[in-house]
Amino acid sequence: MSASPMACLAQAMRQHGLVRFMEHYARTYPDAHLKNLIADDLGPNREMEVDGRRVINFGSDSFLGLDQDRRVQAALIQGVRRWGSHNGTSRFFASVRANEEAEEKLASWLGTEAVLIYPSVTLTNLGALPGLVSKRDLLVIDEHAHNSMQEGAKIAQANGVRVMPFSHCNPADLERVFDQAGEYRSAVVAIDGVYSMTGALPPLAQLNDVCLRRNAVLYVDDAHGTAVLGRKGRGTVYDALGSYDNTLVVGSLSKGFSCFGGFIGCPRDFKMLLKIRSTTFIFGGPVPPAYLEAVCTVCDILNSEEYEEIHGRLTSNLQRLMQGAHALGLVVLGGETPIVSILIGDEDITLQAGRFLFEKGFYVQSVTFPAVPYHAGVLRIQVNANHQPSAIDELLEALAALKQQFTLPAAESKELPFAA
Ligand SMILES: Cc1ncc(COP(=O)(O)O)c(C=O)c1O
Repeated sequence: MSASPMACLAQAMRQHGLVRFMEHYARTYPDAHLKNLIADDLGPNREMEVDGRRVINFGSDSFLGLDQDRRVQAALIQGVRRWGSHNGTSRFFASVRANEEAEEKLASWLGTEAVLIYPSVTLTNLGALPGLVSKRDLLVIDEHAHNSMQEGAKIAQANGVRVMPFSHCNPADLERVFDQAGEYRSAVVAIDGVYSMTGALPPLAQLNDVCLRRNAVLYVDDAHGTAVLGRKGRGTVYDALGSYDNTLVVGSLSKGFSCFGGFIGCPRDFKMLLKIRSTTFIFGGPVPPAYLEAVCTVCDILNSEEYEEIHGRLTSNLQRLMQGAHALGLVVLGGETPIVSILIGDEDITLQAGRFLFEKGFYVQSVTFPAVPYHAGVLRIQVNANHQPSAIDELLEALAALKQQFTLPAAESKELPFAA
C-alpha cells in the first residue's frame, strides 16, 4: 500500500536541510539538545523548575524583570475585567479605547508622532515592510537582518519590488548597492537596531547619512533595544540620530516591556497608510486589550525615576558578567546590550556546553546554525535586572569549569568566525 498523503508530506519535509540538521542533533544528543524546554514552575529572581531540577534562567528577554512586577500584573488583571479576554475582531474594523490609549502613551514615551501596534514584531515586519514599498520602489536589507524582515522582504519581492542585500553593518557597501540600483521611485533600507545573536549595534548615523543622500527611509527593527537602550529605554535610534525625521522605528512589547506585541513608531500620516497597507494588521487579530493596559503601566515605569534604578541593576549585572567572562579568557561577543554571547564554535560542543551549564543549575541558550554562521555556535546569556549578583558569580564559576572540561576558542585567537 502506498504511503498516505500525510506520511508523504512528512517525508518530503524531512528532506529539507534544516529539518535534517535539527533531527540529527536531536537524535545524537537527546539530553544535550535542550530545545522545546518546558518550565513547570517559576520562582523569584529567574528561578525555574525543569524536569524536577531548579535552575536559574539566563534565557529570558524580560530584561527589566517586569514580568514579575505586581503593578504590571495588576494592570493585566484589571484589563481582563474591563475588556474580557479578547476583543474578537481585526482592528481594521474596530478597536477598544485601550488600543488608542496604549498607542498614544507609547508615542509620547518614544517621541514619535504616532505608534501603530501589531500582534508581534514578526507580524509588524511581515505587514509594514512589504506595505511600504510597491513595484517601482527599492528595498535594501542588511544581510544579517532578523528573519522576520527577510521574510517581509520576500513578500515584497513576490509583489514585484526590487530587493537588494548589503553587507552587514557596512555603510560603504550600502553606497555600492545604491550605485548599482539604477532608478527607483522611493527606497527603504531595513536593519536591526541590535543584532541579537551577537549583540552588535549598527552604525546608525552613517547608514542614515547614506539613506538621506539616496532618498531612502531607514527602517530600524529595534526589538532588543526597546526598554533597554537609550534614554528612558527609547532604544537605539533617537540617541544616535537626534530625531526620527528619516526613520521608521519598530519596537517590541514582548521583550523588555514584558507584555505582548510589536509596534511601529511613525509620522501621523504613516499610521493610516500602514493600517491600509499592512496585511497582518487587516487580516489578523490584535494584541488582547488586557496587555494594552499593562503596556500603559510599563510606559509609566519607563518615564519615571524608578527606571534608572531598575536599569542600574541590569547594567551592574551585565558588567559583572562581562568582567568575569573576559577574566576567564573566553571569547565574549556583545555586552553593550544585556545579551552576552560566549563563542563556542563547533555545533556539537555548543550543545554539550549548554547541557553542562544546565547540570550545574543554569539555563542558557545554545545557539547554532542557522541562527549564527556554521561552526560559530554560541552560548547566549541574557542578563536580567532581577538576577541576583550571586547568581552571576555562580554562573561564572560554572563557565570556569566549562573551560576546564571543553576546548573553547581563546580570546587571543586570530581566527574567529565573528569579529569579537
Ligand atoms: C530584531 C528582532 N525582530 C523580531 C523579533 C521577533 O519578535 P516577536 O517575538 O515579537 O515576533 C526578534 C526576536 O528575537 C528580534 O530579535
